[in-house]
This record gives sequence, C-alpha cells and structure tokens, in this order.
Amino acid sequence: MNIVILSRNPALYSTNSIVNAAMRRGHSVRVIDHLLCDLVIRRNKLELYYYNELIEDVDAVIPRIGSSATSYGAAIIRQFEAMGIYTCLNSDSLLKARDKLSCLQYLAQKDIGVPLSLVINNSTMIRPMLTHIEGERKVIKLVSGTHGLGVVLSESDQNAESVLEAFQKVKQRALTQEFIKEADGADVRLIVIGNKVIAAMVRQAQEGEFRSNLHRGATSYAISPTKEEIDVALRATQLLGLEVAGVDLLRSSRGPLVLEVNASPGLEGIETTTGLDVAGRIVQLVERNAAQH
Ligand SMILES: Nc1ncnc2c1ncn2[C@@H]1O[C@H](COP(=O)(O)OP(=O)(O)OP(=O)(O)O)[C@@H](O)[C@H]1O
Ligand SMILES: [Mg+2]
Repeated sequence: MNIVILSRNPALYSTNSIVNAAMRRGHSVRVIDHLLCDLVIRRNKLELYYYNELIEDVDAVIPRIGSSATSYGAAIIRQFEAMGIYTCLNSDSLLKARDKLSCLQYLAQKDIGVPLSLVINNSTMIRPMLTHIEGERKVIKLVSGTHGLGVVLSESDQNAESVLEAFQKVKQRALTQEFIKEADGADVRLIVIGNKVIAAMVRQAQEGEFRSNLHRGATSYAISPTKEEIDVALRATQLLGLEVAGVDLLRSSRGPLVLEVNASPGLEGIETTTGLDVAGRIVQLVERNAAQH
C-alpha cells in the first residue's frame, strides 16, 4: 500500500515508529507536513498539493496532528476524505476529541464518568460557581495545556479565584475540576486500536507532585486494565468515532473517570513501558480498513 503519514516532523519518535512499522510490513510510506499542504477545492474534484506536487495514488492516511495545528490538520484530513481516501482518524472525531472541554462535554452527556468540571467565563461569578465543587482543593487547567503545563492544584477558593482571574486576564480558557485525591498522583493510559484495548500503563507522579505526566518526571509501568476501565475506554472512543486513541483515566472511588481522549496518542511512553509494537498494530488496522474502504 501507499501510506501517507501526516506529521509536522518525521524525526518524532511516534512518526518514526509508524514509518518503520509500515516499512517492515512492506508498505511504501511518505511523511507529509500537513501545514505545508495546499488545497484545490472545486465541484466534484478536490486536490491536494505538497510543494506543488499533486498527491495521488494514496491508499491510506495516518494523521498525527498535534495540538498546535488542529484546525488546518482537520481540513487536510477532510480533503483526503473528500478524495475518497481512507484515513484512520476522521476529521470530525479529531475536532470532538481535541480540546479537553469539548471532549468532556461529549463524554459526560453520554453517561461516561468524568471529573466534575466547571467552565467559569463570567469573571464576576467565580466564587458562586466554585461552590458547585465540594472540598477545598480544586484542579484548574488550561483547556489548551499539555504535558501537565497549565495544570494547577489550588488549596482554597481564594487561591482558585486568583488563578482563574490570572487565566482570564491572559485570555486563556480554563477548566476547574474536583480534585480526585484517591487517584494518588497516578493516571491510567489505555491505547485503543480498532475497538480493542491493546496496551495500558499507569503513570505515577514523582513524590510531592500530583501531575502524573512523564514530561513532569513521572514513572510508568504496564498494567492489565480492569474490565470497567476497558469498557469505559471503548465506549469513549466509539462515542467520539476514534479508531486509534489514547484514553486517560483517573482511578476514583466512584470508578474510572475520563480525563481526556487523545486522537494522536504519543507512542514513545507506551511502547517503551510495555514493550509492545503499538505502531505495528496501527498499521495492521490501516491495512484491514483500507482494504474494505
Ligand atoms: N481532577 C483531577 N484530580 C486529580 N488529578 C488530576 C486531575 N486532573 C488532572 N490531574 C493530574 O494532572 C495530570 C495532568 O492533567 P491533564 O492530563 O488533564 O492535562 P495535561 O496532561 O497537561 O494534558 P494532556 O493530557 O492533553 O497532555 C493528570 O495526568 C493527572 O495526574
Ligand atoms: Mg495528560
């Protein structure tokens, strides 16, 4: 097959891992930077150019769209979809999953457990809105944050108010959540590929830290997820229409709570922690689905 990987940088671990897996399985692979793609849109004939070369004869697309290029990345995927080419990430699903706020809205309305979350946009209503969450401690996070940056644990309402005011001042949308204390600085990452959880790990924060991001020095180990965790992860990805996803859960006293569903999950942490060939599983899924497409 001719496979196109949409990625800003072929040197990234995940991109590289998928390229290698595809080549091992006998495919010809090309990495294309979605931000450098140009489009022609006309009635019944949509075209995509890369450095003025018409891109054609593509059997499948594997998008790896980072958070900085979501909107144009989705437009490029939509162009491939319109050209009748199989892509393992649907443009609408990418947009639904992409930010923490829209992801939580879609999941909560379909009865999936999420941390109780507030969006406080009216700056005069911060204090009364905070009363929706019991308990002194709250987690405040930038909707656009990643790698644990922009995630704050607030110890009091006074504290929360000043953090929220600061985010409003710099015009950054934030979520305020109940603090899931019993998660104990850990979260669970499950990798779903084609309706199966194929890998899972726990990430445990460093001593004295509540954020379990590997970028914040957390350690990780492979686990066998519980049946309930598997069910939640599969329901969440089906709801969002994702065939490849990383689902992040907190283990709470009322069961698994989804923090986020990532439509382009990083592969380095999960492959090195579990020793599994996740990239190879993505390529297998693409082979199956492109053939049926
Ligand atoms: N409501 C919460 N209660 C307890 N711990 C939390 C809560 N929200 C987040 N955390 C901890 O903080 C970490 C970072 O939060 P989150 O995953 O929401 O943001 P991020 O990692 O910056 O974003 P992304 O996952 O998109 O990179 C989580 O992995 C988890 O360990
Ligand atoms: Mg995270």
